[in-house]
Amino acid sequence: MIDLYRRESNSISNMAQLRFFPQAIVGGKGSYLRGDDGRQILDFSASWGAASLGHAHPSVRDAITRAASDQAGASYLSSANEPSVLLAEKLLSLVPERSRGRVWLGHSGSDANETVARMVVAATGRRRILAFKGAYHGGTSGSMAVSGHPALKGVEKFSGLILVPYPDSYAAGDPAAASAATLLHLENVFSRDLRPEEVAAFFIEPIQGDGGLLVPPVGFFIEIERFCRRHGILLVCDEVKFGLARTGLLHAFEHSGIEPDIVVFGKGLGGGLPISAIVGPEPIMNYSPTFSYQTLHGNPICASAALAVLDTIERDELVRHSAEVGAYILTSLTKRGSGLELVGDVRGKGLAIGIELVGDRASRTPAKIQTALAVYRAFQLGLVVYYVGSNSNVLELTPPLTLSKSEADEGISIIDQALQDVSAGKVSTDLLSSFTGW
Ligand SMILES: Cc1ncc(COP(=O)(O)O)c(C=O)c1O
Repeated sequence: MIDLYRRESNSISNMAQLRFFPQAIVGGKGSYLRGDDGRQILDFSASWGAASLGHAHPSVRDAITRAASDQAGASYLSSANEPSVLLAEKLLSLVPERSRGRVWLGHSGSDANETVARMVVAATGRRRILAFKGAYHGGTSGSMAVSGHPALKGVEKFSGLILVPYPDSYAAGDPAAASAATLLHLENVFSRDLRPEEVAAFFIEPIQGDGGLLVPPVGFFIEIERFCRRHGILLVCDEVKFGLARTGLLHAFEHSGIEPDIVVFGKGLGGGLPISAIVGPEPIMNYSPTFSYQTLHGNPICASAALAVLDTIERDELVRHSAEVGAYILTSLTKRGSGLELVGDVRGKGLAIGIELVGDRASRTPAKIQTALAVYRAFQLGLVVYYVGSNSNVLELTPPLTLSKSEADEGISIIDQALQDVSAGKVSTDLLSSFTGW
């Protein structure tokens, strides 16, 4: 397997690549990956949150082995299968009353959000969708079309899309001011020629991930929920990245005290296997048969993995664990970062943590190059961590929900060392020549 990274470049297209350093993986267990050079690398990304229970978790392994040993077909398109039904029943039991209707199963956050975007317009007859600048809802045409992330510049948007700014408390210097600015923006949008009654749905991330791990100001989403209710707009919570225990509560929207109409799950739901879910009211979710389907949707092996993930979250009390270990990391990083001018802000909930890097704390100028260098240096030191943000300057920590305190300590030390090395100018920008990140 030696030189896997170079061999890959001679065989695999770069279209799906988002690379920050030359990582080539041949195996993994728990919170660690094993590189093709034999190195054990601590994984503080969990493959962007998808490997929610870490790697090779026995519950997931056993569930998929069982499902693959007596396989109930490959799909739920033309037959019911037990794992899909059990998963749907389980998901319905986990969401608030308002969204407890029917479940659609797909492969990814992208196909789920695309389906929601098409479905809400078709089912309500309203031609507009609200979403946030900086939001990433997926990489298919229909999900990119309702996303506001700058990395998707040039992509054709849904013709009825209205993007509003997500409140950025750190940039604004004051959470209340950030919240008020967005609410005023929303009011202004509808004071012109638009009517809120033309809007089918408001897509929200209860904590914005790829836009920079933005934690909304207290009370902000209550106002958004009120606005939606007043005008009959469906509130769609994209829980793909930060749902299912990641933020120290089961759902990220619980931090805001809101109740969505439609909830979208993905990534960590499958514990590393491709599966997504939409949960919402029956009249909308049963809009029409054959409205959105792909051959392998409702795959019993992936559904079994998802059931194992949900059972493990419950059995091992991973919501509580995520809250505890996350708070520990947040406190430690805040303490260590306080001595470094490069560290502007450390924020997050549970095991969804962002470290915003700035040129200096007074100007808060995004430190884009230093951020790319920091993740590269961390990788050299034995840690996988990537960055996000509309300005590409926020380290994003989404380690496995099973991360232990000692693993947390190891990761914290590496991040600290990487930031110190970058601050001291010890990491050469030449390293970045083949890594564009995003
Ligand atoms: C909030 C959110 N929604 C949807 C998606 C799309 O998920 P996927 O890439 O698994 O299709 C992502 C991916 O980063 C995401 O962060």
